Amino acid sequence: MAKDPVRVLVTGAAGQIGYALVPMIARGVMLGADQPVILHMLDIPPAAEALNGVKMELVDAAFPLLKGVVATTDAVEACTGVNVAVMVGGFPRKEGMERKDVMSKNVSIYKSQASALEKHAAPNCKVLVVANPANTNALILKEYAPSIPEKNISCLTRLDHNRALGQISERLNVQVSDVKNVIIWGNHSSSQYPDVNHATVATPAGEKPVRELVADDAWLNGEFISTVQQRGAAIIKARKLSSALSAASSACDHIRDWVLGTPEGTWVSMGVYSDGSYNVPAGLIYSFPVACKNGEWSIVQGLPIDEFSRKKLDATAEELSEEKALAYSCLT
Ligand code: NAD
Ligand code: LMR
Repeated sequence: MAKDPVRVLVTGAAGQIGYALVPMIARGVMLGADQPVILHMLDIPPAAEALNGVKMELVDAAFPLLKGVVATTDAVEACTGVNVAVMVGGFPRKEGMERKDVMSKNVSIYKSQASALEKHAAPNCKVLVVANPANTNALILKEYAPSIPEKNISCLTRLDHNRALGQISERLNVQVSDVKNVIIWGNHSSSQYPDVNHATVATPAGEKPVRELVADDAWLNGEFISTVQQRGAAIIKARKLSSALSAASSACDHIRDWVLGTPEGTWVSMGVYSDGSYNVPAGLIYSFPVACKNGEWSIVQGLPIDEFSRKKLDATAEELSEEKALAYSCLT
């Protein structure tokens, strides 16, 4: 029997990530090749005509899984009945800016859209915030939508996770799909900590630790980390626009794994509400290693953290606490 359609909201759908993301969702990349979807697309009035153009292209592409399209500039209409909300709407940084430089413009959007989601989304709607500063926007959304369970609000650090996999795969000249269990800790910013201490590569002789195969701690503790931390800026420098296809693809990975689960023994990185695990202050949206099962994520517990890592986990937590204070000062 055919499944009932799932309603997926994409805010900022007329923008460049939106343009890459909506066809992926309509093709089943996010929720599976047997899962019909109804797309809800929100943008602001100056982008209404462009948004309508995206809707026309979705019709023209004749996606078999796409059972309907709502394209609107009204947040209430956009949020009504949605089961998954991908929050991309906002303003990207330009060359030379840090992600928190777009704070004041973007956090106020998340405060106002929190209540539309809280009141009108389907119960148990899963929310993914992509727009920067992603962790802090997600925290503001959570705080201004108190009836949405904190387990349902997350932010995107899967792009950083995938970038880390990509760097290891290039360095070792192995398939990216053979590398697993990297971790992005903390903020989706240049203070994030890409950690390979528990990462492995599948080889014909079994799984081997990345550290053993790379055998170059100076690279793993230096250039590897800074390359992943600075990759967003490098893309902006090269494209004069921020990353879009990789962001859209990683957003699909994030929701797919959350809904459909992660393989046994594998984890991914998600920005989630800290419960104090790994001595990360509670009350921040912080990227952790998570495993997903039955539509729920849980933080992978018990990984040993060495002194080098501890300092990095604390530094990115510190930045998130500062961002939280700055966000509140922008909202008052
Ligand atoms: P873009 O400027 O191309 O598109 C953003 C869209 O959001 C625009 O169409 C704009 O009109 C719309 N918008 C603005 N305010 C809105 C509102 N209140 N409601 C609904 N829509 C609104 O930008 P983009 O390149 O698509 O990037 C979007 C965001 O995602 C940026 O903040 C960017 O920095 C961020 N980003 C995050 C990641 C990540 O890994 N977390 C990766 C890439 C980009
Ligand atoms: C990215 O990581 O590519 C995005 O967050 C865009 C940016 O501003 O870096």
